[in-house]
Amino acid sequence: MTVLVTGGAGYIGSHMVWKLLDEGEDVVVVDRLSTGFEWAIPAEAELVVGDIADQDLVESTMKRRDVDAVIHFAGSIIVPESVADPLGYYLNNTVKSRALIESAVRAGVPHFIFSSTAAVYGSNDGAPVVEEAPTLPESPYGTSKLMTELMLRDAAAAHPFAYTALRYFNVCGADPKGRTGQSTRGATHLIKVACETATAKRPFMEIFGTDYPTPDGTCIRDYIHVWDLAEAHLLALRRLRAGGTSLIANCGYGTGYSVLQVIDAVRRVVGHDLDVRISGRRPGDPASIVANSERAQREFGWRPKLDDLDTIVTHALRWEEALKRRNS
Ligand code: UFG
Repeated sequence: MTVLVTGGAGYIGSHMVWKLLDEGEDVVVVDRLSTGFEWAIPAEAELVVGDIADQDLVESTMKRRDVDAVIHFAGSIIVPESVADPLGYYLNNTVKSRALIESAVRAGVPHFIFSSTAAVYGSNDGAPVVEEAPTLPESPYGTSKLMTELMLRDAAAAHPFAYTALRYFNVCGADPKGRTGQSTRGATHLIKVACETATAKRPFMEIFGTDYPTPDGTCIRDYIHVWDLAEAHLLALRRLRAGGTSLIANCGYGTGYSVLQVIDAVRRVVGHDLDVRISGRRPGDPASIVANSERAQREFGWRPKLDDLDTIVTHALRWEEALKRRNS
């Protein structure tokens, strides 16, 4: 029995591969290495370099390795980029996911875990979002992920196949043991950008908007440690293997931090000031979005262990220093 991880050379995928190996699972990665790195994949996992929509390649891999579960991370993840290139996002995130789901059905793989996103929800009043909240994505990125959720729903109704779609909030941090982290070039995510500024990889950073209807005027997000997120996938996998039915679950901590609070945490952990400049709002940013994750806790016993902003920043900074040494 083997777990097939798509996008295993990427940020969240590489953490998942380490987590699965730590648990004694056999792992095969399918990744075309467009944004991920071969070195991010531990030697104990097999790497198949190729596209998730290459059905011959994927189905033969599923059969050869006796795959019983797919954990699907491969995809494009930048919200503003999806606004500029919607068809590219629908191809990468929706059309290719369709091919992957079909491959899983054809190869008789019974379990599928999908990397979905809080971006499937529309703006709300800032109260923790439950899974039943209306899905009104505000970007092609969110729509592309929601369409995949719908394909999974319908495929699971028609075939002997069950899925879990995990809707991630703001994923950040790095492996507590320092084996992998967020390595993507040209990253846009707040904690990564702040850590790059703290380690002098970039001279300054910007705060996109200080006039939001929040206590300090900057946007509020629910920052979740990537290792806790990988743990949620592992628990969801165990639940499916035990006969669990298809499920959609939020993954966040239910606690919101503003952009200023995050930057203060980075200053605190690094022990010096950062050059931070105030800039205008970034299009498409909701003022506040925080998860209600009671379902993940109830259905598969998820108990976050690293839900502390300073811990997240410490791990992210440590990885940024390691990347700097690797690239120098
Ligand atoms: N921000 C800055 N400066 C930066 C980077 C970000 O002020 O240099 C701000 C943003 O404007 C936003 C907040 O920090 O208010 C968080 O921004 P991120 O880019 O880190 O993350 P997003 O909230 O935009 O996006 C994340 C995920 C998406 C997911 C979305 C759902 O990256 O995949 O949450 O809410 F869809």
